[in-house]
Amino acid sequence: MFVFDEVAKEGHEQVLYGYDKVSGLKTIIAIHSTALGPALGGTRFFPYESESDALDDVLRLSKGMSYKAAAAGLDLGGGKAVIIGDPRTDKSERLFRAYGRIVDSLRGRYITAEDVGTTPADLDMVRRETRWALGNSVALGGSGDPSPVTARGLYAATRAVAQKLWGDRDIAGRRFAVQGVGKVGSAYVQLLVEARAEVIVTDAYEPAIRAAVDNYDVKAVDSDEIHEVDCDFFSPCALGASLSEMTIPELNCAAIVGSANNQLATDKDAERLADRGILYAPDFVVNAGGLINVHDELHGFSKTRALHRVDSIFDATMKILDTAEERGINPNDAAMKVAEDRIQDIGDLRRFRRSGDDRN
Ligand SMILES: NC(=O)c1ccc[n+]([C@@H]2O[C@H](COP(=O)([O-])OP(=O)(O)OC[C@H]3O[C@@H](n4cnc5c(N)ncnc54)[C@H](O)[C@@H]3O)[C@@H](O)[C@H]2O)c1
Repeated sequence: MFVFDEVAKEGHEQVLYGYDKVSGLKTIIAIHSTALGPALGGTRFFPYESESDALDDVLRLSKGMSYKAAAAGLDLGGGKAVIIGDPRTDKSERLFRAYGRIVDSLRGRYITAEDVGTTPADLDMVRRETRWALGNSVALGGSGDPSPVTARGLYAATRAVAQKLWGDRDIAGRRFAVQGVGKVGSAYVQLLVEARAEVIVTDAYEPAIRAAVDNYDVKAVDSDEIHEVDCDFFSPCALGASLSEMTIPELNCAAIVGSANNQLATDKDAERLADRGILYAPDFVVNAGGLINVHDELHGFSKTRALHRVDSIFDATMKILDTAEERGINPNDAAMKVAEDRIQDIGDLRRFRRSGDDRN
């Protein structure tokens, strides 16, 4: 594996390898772009089978963060970190503090947060060594669990799609099939039910289904049937790649809005959905609520301001759908284009040196 070849492919700015012999810390931090601002993205703790798997993942995820932040109109770049190890057995205070020192060495070029395999308690240890770690608990004045806020952003996007398809943002009476009722999915179901929509759910974990059925009085189907449900909205809120060559021909929905990252198994699947006349609201646009929420901590967290900004996912989604229509391209390509244009355009402004800029 030649690291520079991999880094060059997607134009990443920097990749930092960090190691601590005592704790066994092995981390890779990837900064895809700081054109719009500091590179923000969580720390994934995962037992990668090889260093090259870890590098592939961190490069892919950090690029995704650049697009997510840009599409949301935030002054943030894209970055991500991975720690190679088993989150059940390899965590220690020393490891997270060593990691915090490595994050700190980037002096704010990279800002970290939680991700798969890391918890608020882990981030508390990181924070003892660097201020460039977000996702503080509410008790400490932070933004807390992002999941209900992500669901709120999803709901705003849903209303934009309804407006686009039927000229009415009200979703009362619309039918939803929600795949995965974990932290985001269940909060989303609550919002849908409150808006008097009809909801069918599934989950791979039986107690999660039972909780949704008991709490919200919704119907449930087996997890391998959910994508076939006759509905207005199919909502992937579980894992990635649920929209594929296999599932797309079996979909029975008018639109897709869901929180899962990387819903499309391949880029071709955006075109497959368009060919079937299904309106796909791109995942990285509609699930940005959590990022918007945590980003607000950089300004001294204000819940009101964060939620106001999350609600603007309605406008961001509408802009993508309008752009797709105007240019005759699918919404995923439109979202990539809108993000790239912003990185190019606003990023270019930073060549203009302000008095007090501390860059040499
Ligand atoms: N939490 C956030 O704020 C946030 C923000 C952006 C994106 N996301 C993404 O949204 C998705 C859901 O996140 P979450 O925080 O709710 O996670 P979660 O782990 O709380 O919930 C995921 C649920 O999906 C279920 N599931 C897994 N595989 C399934 C399958 N094949 N069929 C049906 N159900 C299945 C799990 O049992 C679980 O209940 C993830 O892809 C995550 O990356 C979350």
